[in-house]
Amino acid sequence: MSDVFDNLVLFFEQQIELYGNDIGLILDTTIDEQQSSFSPLAWQESASLHELEQTIKTCQQCALSQARNKFVFGGGNPQADIVFVGEAPGADEDRIGLPFVGRAGDMLTKILDSIQLKRTDVYICNILKCRPPQNRDPLPDEIATCKPYLVKQLQLIQPKIIVCLGRIAAQVLLETSDSLTQLRARWFSLNEMKVMVTYHPAALLRSTGYKSATWEDMKRLRQLYDDIKGQA
Ligand code: URA
Repeated sequence: MSDVFDNLVLFFEQQIELYGNDIGLILDTTIDEQQSSFSPLAWQESASLHELEQTIKTCQQCALSQARNKFVFGGGNPQADIVFVGEAPGADEDRIGLPFVGRAGDMLTKILDSIQLKRTDVYICNILKCRPPQNRDPLPDEIATCKPYLVKQLQLIQPKIIVCLGRIAAQVLLETSDSLTQLRARWFSLNEMKVMVTYHPAALLRSTGYKSATWEDMKRLRQLYDDIKGQA
C-alpha cells in the first residue's frame, strides 16, 4: 500500500478521533490492495503485455471503471502479426473479461475461419477496456483516457497489420472523421503497421448485406498476410 494512501488513512482516522464519524466519510480500510496499486504513469514502463495488463487492470481513470465487472484487456497471440481492434466490451465481455466472446465474437471467429485464421493466430482487443452503459458509443474523454493503453499494447505486440472493426475503431486509430465507407478497401500506414478497416461483426449480425464486402476485405487481408509471411 502506498505511503500516500497510508497517510490519507491516518489523516481520516485522526479526524474521526477528533470530530467523530459525522465528518461524513465511510472509512473503508479494506480497499483491495490491487485497487490502490494503479499508478497513472508506471504502466508506461511495462515490458510485456502481461505486465501491462497487471498494471492497468485496476484503472479508475474514467467513470466506466465504476460500473465494470471485468476490465477487458485483450486476448490472443502476444506475438501476432495481425491485431483486430473493436470498439468496447459488451455485456458478455464485461462478465467474462475477454474480448469478443458474445454473438459478435462468434461472428468474428467465423470471419477469421473464412481466411483460415484461428483466434490463437491473432490478437484481439478494443479501443475501450471497460463496457459503456447500454453499449453506447465511447465518449471522447473515455477514448482519450483509454487509447494510450491500446497504443502501448501495439508497441509491445508490434504487429504488421491492424484490422479496425467498425467505424469507431477506425476513426479513433486513424484519427479521422471519415465514414466507414470512405475508409474501407484501402490500406493505411501507422508507424510501421498497415491498417485496414472493415465492418464490425455486429453489423453482419444485423444485416447480411455487409457480408460480401467483408469477404472482399478478408481476401485483401489474407493476401497481405501471405505476402508478409512470404517475405519473412
Ligand atoms: N464488440 C466490440 O467492439 N468488442 C467486443 O469485445 C465485443 C463486442
